[in-house]
Amino acid sequence: MPPSATGIDLVQEVKSKAKEGHAHVVSIRRDLHRVPELAFEEHQTAARIDAELSALGVDQIRTGVAKTGIIAEIHGSEPGPVVVLRADIDALPIQEQNTFDFRSTIDGKMHACGHDGHTAALLGAARILCSSRQRFAGTARLLFQPSEEKLPGGAPGMIEAGALDGNATGPPIGVFGQHVRPSMPAGMLGVLPGPFMASADEIYITIKGDGGHAAEPHLQNCDPVVVASQVVLALQSVISRSRPPGEPGILTIGRLIADGATNVIPGEVVMEGTLRTMNNRWRKQAHDEIHRVVSHVASGAGAESHVHIKVGYPPLVNDPDSAELVRETAMAYNGPNRVQDIEQWYAAEDFACYLEELPGAFFMLGVGNETRGYTSAVHTPTFTIDEDALQTGAGFMAYLAITALARAQARG
Ligand code: NI
Repeated sequence: MPPSATGIDLVQEVKSKAKEGHAHVVSIRRDLHRVPELAFEEHQTAARIDAELSALGVDQIRTGVAKTGIIAEIHGSEPGPVVVLRADIDALPIQEQNTFDFRSTIDGKMHACGHDGHTAALLGAARILCSSRQRFAGTARLLFQPSEEKLPGGAPGMIEAGALDGNATGPPIGVFGQHVRPSMPAGMLGVLPGPFMASADEIYITIKGDGGHAAEPHLQNCDPVVVASQVVLALQSVISRSRPPGEPGILTIGRLIADGATNVIPGEVVMEGTLRTMNNRWRKQAHDEIHRVVSHVASGAGAESHVHIKVGYPPLVNDPDSAELVRETAMAYNGPNRVQDIEQWYAAEDFACYLEELPGAFFMLGVGNETRGYTSAVHTPTFTIDEDALQTGAGFMAYLAITALARAQARG
């Protein structure tokens, strides 16, 4: 019998499997939460993922991908295309302040961005997919990616190692990932087509002058504090004057160190900041503008300047058709009241790298619960999630994969 992935039956079937597997998903999440590991150090995390996948009997497991990542494959009952699902697995250098019994046991490290939940949910989806092979033709490829939180990110290494390779049918039909969002109620799903998350480049500027007595500025070539102040203001014109209308952009200088004294003009001022955009072309123009503005303002005042822009993750642009697939399948799986429109988010995410290679979409899973007091934002010491949401996170990922493969098959 050919695989069948249609109808309300499939929703009910996946939901009941998600419910069955939920307690185990929660236990995985809590175990990962206890032992958070930073970028490219996720050895225990990877070992646990490997053990879970092995116990499920997935068709293929590759460990040590991009150092500490894992790629697994689950084959349906017939050959067909590949769909790629990704979870990130790393934690953050934050001291946890939560007091629940599964809080971090490692000083200064914490799963404060929900990657423990992403990983547990994808393992939950793996369990569902393994028991639903007769429901799909093709391959569900699962990526457990290290180092989302730290440049250069784990995604480029995963891609280099073949994470997005195709098979006889062609390239993968799509790549999908989810991220927890505490400002949305637990279990709610949200997706935005097109540009969704920002590029994030780090800006490092140095302004140099002679330095000297604060009472004798006229004897020095320039005052780098005054020049740096002018640079900060002039840089705002990159956003207010050079940015094309309708193109989002943020330029913030968040660190400005002029380490002189009441009576000392320092010889050097350093500044650091960030540039966020939703478009690679304008982003590159902005880089040129930043270089130009800093060097001209500085040289006009007689100062030396140096600009270094550390290029970060690209903008994350959801493929409109893939985002629509997520929205439609979310409606079918969750019901219209549990799917919401979301806005652009100016955080950065290396899932963007996958979307530069393949169509796909990155969507949000609500994990907030005001009644239970789960309202802290990601990257804070009191962040946590309503674990009930993981049942949706696991089930929906599996349902999305099966539906995506079925649609690809229907298209031929
Ligand atoms: Ni994150």
